[in-house]
Amino acid sequence: MTDGRPLKVALLGCGVVGSQVARLVTTHAADLAARVGAPVELAGIAVRRPGRLREGVHAELITTDAQGLVSRPDIDVVVEVIGGIEPARSLISTAFENGASVVTANKALLAEDGPSLYSAADKYGADLYFEAAVAGAIPLLRPLRESLAGDSVNRVLGIVNGTTNFILDRMDTSGAGYYEALEEATALGYAEADPTADVEGFDAAAKAAILSGIAFHTRVRLDDVHREGITEVTASDIASARRMGCTVKLLAICERAADGRSVTARVHPAMIPLTHPLASVREAYNAVFVEADSAGSLMFYGQGAGGVPTASAILGDLVAACRNKVSGARGPGESAYTMLPVSPMGDVVTRYHISLDVADKPGVLSQVAAVFADHGVSIDTVRQQGKDGEASLVVVTHRAPDAALTATVETLRGLDTVRGVASIMRVEGE
Ligand code: HSE
Repeated sequence: MTDGRPLKVALLGCGVVGSQVARLVTTHAADLAARVGAPVELAGIAVRRPGRLREGVHAELITTDAQGLVSRPDIDVVVEVIGGIEPARSLISTAFENGASVVTANKALLAEDGPSLYSAADKYGADLYFEAAVAGAIPLLRPLRESLAGDSVNRVLGIVNGTTNFILDRMDTSGAGYYEALEEATALGYAEADPTADVEGFDAAAKAAILSGIAFHTRVRLDDVHREGITEVTASDIASARRMGCTVKLLAICERAADGRSVTARVHPAMIPLTHPLASVREAYNAVFVEADSAGSLMFYGQGAGGVPTASAILGDLVAACRNKVSGARGPGESAYTMLPVSPMGDVVTRYHISLDVADKPGVLSQVAAVFADHGVSIDTVRQQGKDGEASLVVVTHRAPDAALTATVETLRGLDTVRGVASIMRVEGE
């Protein structure tokens, strides 16, 4: 309980997101005080480069001594938006040791070391909130942790990376190749100078780890998430998807096995039907589809990145943490009681779209079909187009374990009559 005294907030980081947090805490001070029940004041802002101009940020709050700031006994809430593992992890630990609650957007740290953060929060009676770590402004973690706490979530399927969605959307609408679309994303500020974390799926995989842990009340680490990025998606993959009435999206897919005994988490590009709600998620937007026993299907949609939208999620968490300080309550802690094991990608049941360049002569189709049969993979549709002794064969399978589908493709590659595998992509959302 704070007896109406002002609540003091330490902000770690004042970049794209942090500067917006600082601005909103100041400009919305009256509303925040009314909503929290006590004034909310910025007590200090730790930065690496103090000389940089930060419009609207009071210069006297700036410090380079982040450790000193989080060690102050008068700090009630620490907002961490510096990202990365260190020094963020140590600063958050010190914050908890000093009794402060923590609001963070640090998906990498949560995906690597979430359980330790939760347990430190518990030990010191503090709160840990991180709505902004997944899908920016979209209220998603609080609905999963609180609104759906009485339900049973079976699947979370989403577009959780705006940069890659922008690139794939451009490839889809303009027929551009991957590098051309990446260039446009960079020029417009959607992709960073080094886009690896986004385009190789690391960012989405960290979010998938966080989402699956919360959705299934278990623990999933970044290393448990199967990850494939979008760098190998070609204009021809996108054109194939179009011909099937689909589009290509980088999806984060978290599932509980039908027998409820294990979970899987994966990030990879996939074809989804144009009729699926996620197909209409354009540009850098994010959307997450949640399937639960009682609630049925839910869709969360909005801006997954950007300073102001992400600051909105942080401010929401800040209000929650401050309200708890005022009332002496605590927010929800970790719920990982199921401790379900994470199954490998090979066990995931999925469908493949495979486009092969083959010799156009008698017996090739039956030879190819036999490979699928030998691996226990049932074919859904086959389309063949022949030209000058060569043919393109497009096979879409029924659902089968991913290991069987991968083995099928490997065997196909070894056939003399298969000149090349032009495209392989999983098909989701049906
Ligand atoms: N770089 C991320 C994206 C935003 O493109 O969605 C922060 O997670």
